[in-house]
Amino acid sequence: MMAQEIRQKYLEYFKDKGHKVIPRASLIPQDDPTTLFTGSGMQPLVPYLLGKSHPAGKRLVDSQTCFRAEDMDEVGDNRHTTFFEMLGNFSLGDYYKEEQLTWFWEFLIGELKLPKERLWVTCFEGDKKLGIPKDTESAEIWKKLGVPEERIAFYGADKNWWSREGEPSHMREGEPGGPDSEVFYEFTSVEHDKKFGDKCHPNCDCGRFLEIGNSVFMTYRKVDGKFEHLPKPNVDFGGGLERLEAANSDNPDIFQISLIKPIIEGLEKLSGKDYEQHQTSMRVIADHLRAATFLAVDGAIPSNKAQGYVLRRLLRRSIRYAFELGIEQQLCEQVVPIITELYAPDFPEVAKQKSDIVAIFAKEEKIFRQTLRSGVREFTKLAEQAKQVTGGDVFKLYDTYGFPVELSLEEAYLQKVDVDGDWQKQFDKLMAEQRQRSQTASVGMFKGGLADHSEAVVKLHTTTHLMYRALKNVLGDHVVQRGSNITAERTRFDFSHPEKVTAEQIKQVEDIVNQKIAEDLPVSWKEESTKQALKTASGAFGDKYGDKVKVYTVGDPKKPFSREICGGPHVEHTGVIAAGGKKFKIVKEEASSAGVRRIKAVLQ
Ligand code: SER
Repeated sequence: MMAQEIRQKYLEYFKDKGHKVIPRASLIPQDDPTTLFTGSGMQPLVPYLLGKSHPAGKRLVDSQTCFRAEDMDEVGDNRHTTFFEMLGNFSLGDYYKEEQLTWFWEFLIGELKLPKERLWVTCFEGDKKLGIPKDTESAEIWKKLGVPEERIAFYGADKNWWSREGEPSHMREGEPGGPDSEVFYEFTSVEHDKKFGDKCHPNCDCGRFLEIGNSVFMTYRKVDGKFEHLPKPNVDFGGGLERLEAANSDNPDIFQISLIKPIIEGLEKLSGKDYEQHQTSMRVIADHLRAATFLAVDGAIPSNKAQGYVLRRLLRRSIRYAFELGIEQQLCEQVVPIITELYAPDFPEVAKQKSDIVAIFAKEEKIFRQTLRSGVREFTKLAEQAKQVTGGDVFKLYDTYGFPVELSLEEAYLQKVDVDGDWQKQFDKLMAEQRQRSQTASVGMFKGGLADHSEAVVKLHTTTHLMYRALKNVLGDHVVQRGSNITAERTRFDFSHPEKVTAEQIKQVEDIVNQKIAEDLPVSWKEESTKQALKTASGAFGDKYGDKVKVYTVGDPKKPFSREICGGPHVEHTGVIAAGGKKFKIVKEEASSAGVRRIKAVLQ
């Protein structure tokens, strides 16, 4: 059964059990300044797991695209990926263990027809220190469903506890979490490797067992360092779609499933090399380009910061590995369309942005290919000067030039240069720091692009709405917001436009904005259904919305000048923006990336 069919069956199955299907959230969280990416199905639902009521009800089901930047260096074996789809069903204070475990079991056996004798389950063994008991209830349910006792294993909090920070001790204040119960598929074709321990078991890392679903009983939250019960217990289930197909086809290599195999075949054709002999490189490229494509669909653009930085690393690593396969040009142009084809039928946003994304990636590739050559040159220079390569050098080459560690070591060998004995320690330290940077954004960084809610920022925020409308009026409706960042001093606005904005066009935009400020137009907002709002209001590229959104209108709501989906805050009347005789002025216009322009503007 192919992933597409498994996804469909799952959504239908839970719809029949009274669940509402909700759309995937963006990979780039819109309202969560603490993290750069959506890494699990529950993440966009945290407020609802903590008790807020969800507009779609208490039973939800979805397929959430997930990205885990922290796994980037693990990709290469037959099952690790940074990007995956997580099938999820959620009970927000409604059903609990009995229904959840029964339904998931029925889905695996009844719908996917997985052989019972290949399935193992795990439960939480309890933690005295935390005061959380052993989950015998789940074990009893599994027994009732026909799972033999010897295939029910108990583990501690390191394996059978879920919160988005992992173990209970890592949880942040206010975060929800709870014990979980996982199902594993056993690939009998994989022999246990003693390197991972004498005895194989569901959580063994040898690859014989693959986790295919995790039912988290979100029952607790952390308050003042202690666990307290949530008002109502929830269920947060997540199962990797790709893994479910791997189990369904009894093939432990996730890169052979229907959503990835065509990419591998494309790479074989492009390179003229066999997957069997080049598994690592082909797996890395397939994974990274899938992730990069979806990050770009959700609005990321290669850059040196935050999500853009991670996207750039994904592209660079892909190109580097492609180089090793002998693919010396047009990797993105050849491979990204294979990915968009695979997803277009189920994700229309992917089809819509295909050519934009290919163009942006192709430009990045062209530049990086030059950089890659400089990487080798850089190494040679460094080797000539220092006569010894340090961990810092290896890291710099890796981080800046995407030059793989092995390659630095190999170059050192070829060029007969010493490598510092402590290089690994220093390199690991720098890597850990870099991971931290990729994973956590500084708090406040992404609050709708506003630095704070000071008067100056709020004035510039409303001005930015005026400018967005004016840009559309002057340049055309193809202008779509690609990002914004507003501080008390200036607004910075990125938007799609294929060429330089002329001085004359800039003047026209300034005049319109100043005119609208002088007209002292009222600013108002209303909550509207997303469907309705999207017909008449502007949004930002890559933003994903729930069922309802706030729409800000500048001008008479019957004849508005601008209507924009936005969380606010804004001034009440545009006239106040001109207080003290201030005028709107565009101080800079430049290219931000392929097809995207950047404007900086001030009130002075
Ligand atoms: N939150 C759990 C996970 O990511 C189950 O959805 O595994």
